[in-house]
Amino acid sequence: MKNEMPRLQYAFNELEPIISAETLEYHYGKHLQTYVGNLAKLVKGTEYETRDIEEIVATAPDGGIFNNAGQVLNHVLYFLQFSAPNHGSLPEGRLAGIIDRDFGNLEALKAKMEEAAINLFGSGWAWLSLDNDGKLQITQESNAGNPIRRGHKPLLCFDVWEHAYYIDYRNRRADYVKQLWNIINWQEISLRL
Ligand SMILES: [Fe+2]
Repeated sequence: MKNEMPRLQYAFNELEPIISAETLEYHYGKHLQTYVGNLAKLVKGTEYETRDIEEIVATAPDGGIFNNAGQVLNHVLYFLQFSAPNHGSLPEGRLAGIIDRDFGNLEALKAKMEEAAINLFGSGWAWLSLDNDGKLQITQESNAGNPIRRGHKPLLCFDVWEHAYYIDYRNRRADYVKQLWNIINWQEISLRL
């Protein structure tokens, strides 16, 4: 995964109007491509060269390798969690069960995730993850952060770096965050669980 771009299951214009083709051209085509290229250069000849991306993100010390590996893994999870707006799904099975158990219902989860994403100061990510006790957690991570560094299983993420929404939403981060629910592929989130 760390040397390759993830294959998207949708065309660049298929997430419109939630995320435009222009945003994907920059966000996937340029930002993620840069992180992938930087990481490949940085790990060459180091102990990390043969490690998989999750292991690098979980174990690398703060610094260039972690920053680029984190951004590769975060963006892979971000881009692969989406599907076209009219293919919207709902959580099912075990995922639906633990959402109800830990948040009360899906609407409560959404509200907490939106709050984490909207109120995050600066660049970073809001995450839904499964903690070491098997409980769902929503957390804020700055910059390239990923809850995998605390041993959590990352399930769902909202990128709130400005590059993720400025073309489509300008400074209206809250509008971007609320719209993302329309393209979440909950079957993919269940697979991660
Ligand atoms: Fe991003």
